[in-house]
Amino acid sequence: MDMKNNSSILLVADNPVLCRSMCDFLSKEGHFVTVAANGAEALDLFRKSRPHIIISDLRLPKLDGLQFLDIVKNESADTPFIIISGEGAMEDAVEGLRLGAWSYLTKPVNPFELKHCVDKAMEQVRLVQESLYYRNFLDETVERRTADLLEQNARLASEINERQHQEQLTVRAMAELEKAFREKEILQSQLLQAHKLESVGQLASGIAHEINTPTQFVSSNVSFLDEAFADLSQCFKNLTEAAAEGKLTPDILRDAMTEADWEYLHDEVPKAIRQSREGLARVTSIVRAMKEFSHPGGQDAEHSDVNHLIETTVTVARNEWKYSAEVVLKLSPNLPAVPCVDGAIGQVLLNLLVNAAQAITEKLGRTPEGGKGTITITTETVGSEVLIHIADTGCGIPEEYQARIFEPFFTTKEVGKGTGQGLAIAYDVITRKHGGNLTFATVIGEGTTFTIRLPIAKGKAASSNGS
Ligand SMILES: Nc1ncnc2c1ncn2[C@@H]1O[C@H](COP(=O)(O)OP(=O)(O)OP(=O)(O)O)[C@@H](O)[C@H]1O
Ligand SMILES: [Mg+2]
Repeated sequence: MDMKNNSSILLVADNPVLCRSMCDFLSKEGHFVTVAANGAEALDLFRKSRPHIIISDLRLPKLDGLQFLDIVKNESADTPFIIISGEGAMEDAVEGLRLGAWSYLTKPVNPFELKHCVDKAMEQVRLVQESLYYRNFLDETVERRTADLLEQNARLASEINERQHQEQLTVRAMAELEKAFREKEILQSQLLQAHKLESVGQLASGIAHEINTPTQFVSSNVSFLDEAFADLSQCFKNLTEAAAEGKLTPDILRDAMTEADWEYLHDEVPKAIRQSREGLARVTSIVRAMKEFSHPGGQDAEHSDVNHLIETTVTVARNEWKYSAEVVLKLSPNLPAVPCVDGAIGQVLLNLLVNAAQAITEKLGRTPEGGKGTITITTETVGSEVLIHIADTGCGIPEEYQARIFEPFFTTKEVGKGTGQGLAIAYDVITRKHGGNLTFATVIGEGTTFTIRLPIAKGKAASSNGS
């Protein structure tokens, strides 16, 4: 409906003259006018065409104007309803206004008044329609925005869900990783312990042999001292008897001493005692080294004396190297202490020492006429680190093996001799447990030097003055 000029008006009046004149006037004004002569017809037209404005007489046949007004207001409250009231029928007009009429005109209808009234009513219609339009537009916009927001919410909710799911997965993965890491730690320490026990087992026969040699000569010296004591006892007995009989002459004394071989005993007995002492000291030092190697916690486990650890290791492993090599120690005096976890450094030193001895044996095996090899162990302080070099004059490491020697279970030794764990454990102990470093340099056919770098205990570096 274009409301600009020609609005639709339902004109209800039973007076044909009034009806025609108003209809003509309104049509000329550009309105589209429908005419009804009674209330029933008017209601019918209203329901069919829904005019913008109704202008209605009150006294109508069939359906009274006020009843018509009441129905219209019920069915379309916003439609302006203009009453035409007869002269002197003011109560009707008041009743009409009370029922919701928009305005009223009195007969005879003044055209200017009519125009003014219709224009105002049209203004009202326009406003109502505009507000309806905006309300619809607003509703639609709100609906659309609400739908957008709901969609965004749903998307956000699903993103949050997804993120929470991912977070849960991450947390679970972290927990599993941590568990795996802890299990690995336990396995590694079990492996270290197993390997340690294995090497202690291997060392045991060597150590028994090491102890056996001094024990044997202590034992033969004790037998010699036993016999010497018996000879001397007899000598004293003879001399005591001669003295009792008053026959003790210098000749008898000399003969008795000669019989007891005194000159020989005078030289040999102190020698036997000294040798026995040395033998017992040797046994004691081996036993102490063995004890310290197995339970290094006895020393200051926090700050270990690396030089002492090396001496102990060389002692317990003597039987492993003594047939193939001389061990030369070049230990720096005043070497600062290094923190040593679980006494594992001793184990590392043993692995490297045994490897060095085996490398020399392998080389000597190929050139049996050559003499023994040499294992030189050097310690020094460089910056904030203690360095231990274990150099052998063995076979060297072939190039194709060099990248693999720290791999667990990599070995070039025959079955039963090597398990390939020594260097893997050594590397783990030095790098991971001690924050140090294990490297090597090798020349094939000439030898290999392994270098351990260990960080000095905090607060100890300043007092060091290594070589
Ligand atoms: N000083 C060395 N000289 C030459 N080769 C060496 C030396 N040290 C290690 N290797 C080589 O590295 C390999 C791995 O050494 P690692 O100590 O890990 O195992 P292994 O000595 O074979 O066995 P395990 O130590 O378990 O008894 C050795 O088999 C050997 O080939
Ligand atoms: Mg080894």
